[in-house]
Amino acid sequence: MTTVLAIETSCDETAVAIVRERQVLAEAVASQIPQHQAYGGVVPEIASRQHLEAINCLLQQVQQETNLSWAQLDGIAATCAPGLVGALNIGLAAAKTLAVLYQRPLVGIHHLEGHICSAYLAAPDLQPPFLCLLVSGGHTSLVAVQHGQTYEPLGQTHDDAVGEAFDKVARLLGLGYPGGPAIDRLAPTGNPHAFALPEGKISLPGGGIHPYDMSFSGLKTAVRRLVEQLPAPLPIADLAASFQYTVIQALTRRAIRCAVEQGLTTLVVAGGVAANRELRQTLTTAAQSQGIQVIIPPLKYCTDNAAMIGCAGVLRLKQGQVSPLTLTSRSRMALTDISTLYENHSRTNSY
Ligand code: KG4
Ligand code: ZN
Repeated sequence: MTTVLAIETSCDETAVAIVRERQVLAEAVASQIPQHQAYGGVVPEIASRQHLEAINCLLQQVQQETNLSWAQLDGIAATCAPGLVGALNIGLAAAKTLAVLYQRPLVGIHHLEGHICSAYLAAPDLQPPFLCLLVSGGHTSLVAVQHGQTYEPLGQTHDDAVGEAFDKVARLLGLGYPGGPAIDRLAPTGNPHAFALPEGKISLPGGGIHPYDMSFSGLKTAVRRLVEQLPAPLPIADLAASFQYTVIQALTRRAIRCAVEQGLTTLVVAGGVAANRELRQTLTTAAQSQGIQVIIPPLKYCTDNAAMIGCAGVLRLKQGQVSPLTLTSRSRMALTDISTLYENHSRTNSY
């Protein structure tokens, strides 16, 4: 049984967990939402400082809870890309320090692989192949997860990520940060058909529409125009409901079509936006009507957390993949470049 300590500091949550195979033994999170709220969004410098302040306490907390010594771990996993570099560096530096002190393998984790692996926490028997609809604040795509945990991107947004669209529209509506949960709460009180908003479509060079690619910036602009043109008081709940409805239709249509056409009978929904109640409901109903099994992690494993990073760390360690201590953090990185995070050697680092 493989046991890892996992650290996640890519954005505004400092999170630490100890994971054994697909089971969470302990976890601790320090959210920074109140610190960023006054600025209406995440301030990178503040995020780094907050991570630095919180991380040692959280590490101590999970250690005490499990009674494990760091030397008993099979590896130390930390998110190293993509994300805010200053924020990632705090978690990565902590992981490297423990790896050196306790002579444990370091495992750098791609944040989006972490989100995909959150499905294993919800469904411990799940095995690839499956389709993953990845919907976070910085990323939106449809990815086929193949045997051996390799990733085949099938569709993606050409502009804003869906979480980013939620956050920007929430700001336009004066709902503040974080925007996604605010729209989720308000939308059920509005009429989703009050405004017909455009669903972004991506044209193919030879004509026709890309079946799985998407676009959300036009939708955001359409909401901005309405906000500018409508007389006061703004029908905020109707705008939120219409926006959310349009996004969910776009995601659901593409995800279901992709699963059916690619012959994938399991659909995983992962990333912060997977916490959206209406999206969970609509996708589940649409998938069931096509005989597709849907796996959506519980809310706390949709948004950023360290348990999912631990799950990914266990997988990588089992494949004999460890990272060099020279590993650096990166703000951007494609899922298909994950192998560059690892050295091709056995399960211990050379110091
Ligand atoms: O995965 P995540 O926690 O961080 C990134 O990796 O980006 O995703 C954060 C995003 C934010 O844009 C946030 O507004 C959105 O997920 N989000 C939601 C909900 N909860 C979080 N969007 C819609 N409905 C929600 N309930
Ligand atoms: Zn995330």
